[in-house]
Amino acid sequence: MITALAGAQWGDEGKGKIIDIMAAKADVVVRATGGNNAGHTVVSNGKTYKLHLVPSGILYDGTICCIGPGCVVDPLSLLKEMDEVRANGTSLDGLRIDYRAHIVMPYHLIIDELAELSKGAGDIGTTKKGIGPCYMDKAERVGIRFYDLIHPDVFADKLRIMLENKKKYITGMFGKEAYEKRADLLDYDKVLAAYNDAADKLKGYAADTTVIAYNANKEGKNVLFEGAQGTLLDLDMGTYPYVTSSHPVTGGFCVSAGIGPTLIDECIGIAKCYTTRVGKGPFPTELFDETGDFIREAGAEYGVTTGRPRRCGWLDLVILRYAVRVNGLTGIALNKLDTLTGLKEIKVCIGYDNNGQLISDFPADIRELEKCTPVYKIMPGWTEDITKATKLEDLPEAAIEYLKLIQSEIGCKIALVGVGPDRIQSFPVSINI
Ligand code: GDP
Ligand code: IMO
Ligand code: MG
Repeated sequence: MITALAGAQWGDEGKGKIIDIMAAKADVVVRATGGNNAGHTVVSNGKTYKLHLVPSGILYDGTICCIGPGCVVDPLSLLKEMDEVRANGTSLDGLRIDYRAHIVMPYHLIIDELAELSKGAGDIGTTKKGIGPCYMDKAERVGIRFYDLIHPDVFADKLRIMLENKKKYITGMFGKEAYEKRADLLDYDKVLAAYNDAADKLKGYAADTTVIAYNANKEGKNVLFEGAQGTLLDLDMGTYPYVTSSHPVTGGFCVSAGIGPTLIDECIGIAKCYTTRVGKGPFPTELFDETGDFIREAGAEYGVTTGRPRRCGWLDLVILRYAVRVNGLTGIALNKLDTLTGLKEIKVCIGYDNNGQLISDFPADIRELEKCTPVYKIMPGWTEDITKATKLEDLPEAAIEYLKLIQSEIGCKIALVGVGPDRIQSFPVSINI
């Protein structure tokens, strides 16, 4: 059985928690896209784990955790993360890195930073982890892959060429001074030594992860695809250009993990009971008042990777409907219901008003989206502490009504509800409307 788990909003939906819960029954977990721009939180026995590239199934002994072909790997940052994971007493024996994954190089980080700077107020608000520039090289077919990294002769040759090319690129695009200020970070001998050392430490994890996932499925084992980012950050489906440079939608797993679409059995979308976004770009239900602040504080909405405060707003069902459609979702996991506790009333966006016309499909272009204003339905809130709920019936009537509205509006069953960050604070539901 293969289950794909994808973020249904703008990332940070609580994917790490759900993947960790589902990984209890998984033999293989595969991250297929993105890099250490992701920040996935797992809370177990009161201990918090923050993962960036290491898949969220790592806490289970014996689970094979793959960094798949479509991921981009910053080897220096990965080694740091691996040290942190080990320091928590977690074994990395199950970790595998696909030969095809592209390597984030120091010049990618520099180009990410300079490109953002040069855009001024029009910046994207990237995580500055070099993700976009790394995917640019991949698309240009000049990228360095994990296979190259662990073959020192190949790497040494490619590195020399790339450093020459990037010197010309950075100088041409951002000026001689910008290059010279950072030249030390792009010194051939230094980069070679640091990356050769990383290659030595990582080569034992190299694998063809497409074979691992395929064979596991053939042998009747459980495979989980761990989404990073979210549907609205998808390069094609998202709010372009305020997106990441990969494909976090479920279709992305097929391309980026090398698994044919007919092999995926279930597609679960992960969403929060409200909406957040970190970085720039349109956000129709964004709140700029004390309710937004309340959600940010109650939900601890600060970025795991960059520490930036997340923008917060009401749940947008136009977005969830879109996520159901473009991901072919068979179920939704809804996190953070507990965060809304204490609000007198809860607004839910059920459609957009575009010049008097009611829109229910998410617009294809942000200029159309910017013309839209949310149409809200107002629901009563609740005050009861729900963090210890273990079944639907434990929830107050108002919370159940809220879930019912969501399920009926998006036309996809809610499969799981989250009422707290710990892995035990989630339970399966079956809601009859
Ligand atoms: P991811 O990137 O999708 O894995 O999500 P993040 O880890 O970036 O952000 C989700 C945050 O919400 C983390 O701090 C989680 O510990 C927390 N979280 C997840 N589910 C719940 C929930 O149901 N309730 C509460 N209060 N927090 C949750
Ligand atoms: P997880 O997996 C939230 C956002 C950045 C920026 C845009 C482009 O934790 O949900 P990038 O560095 O990827 O070029 O930045 O994408 N972004 C995320 N936002 N959660 C993430 O990952 C994100 N990964 C990238 O903030 O707006
Ligand atoms: Mg995150």
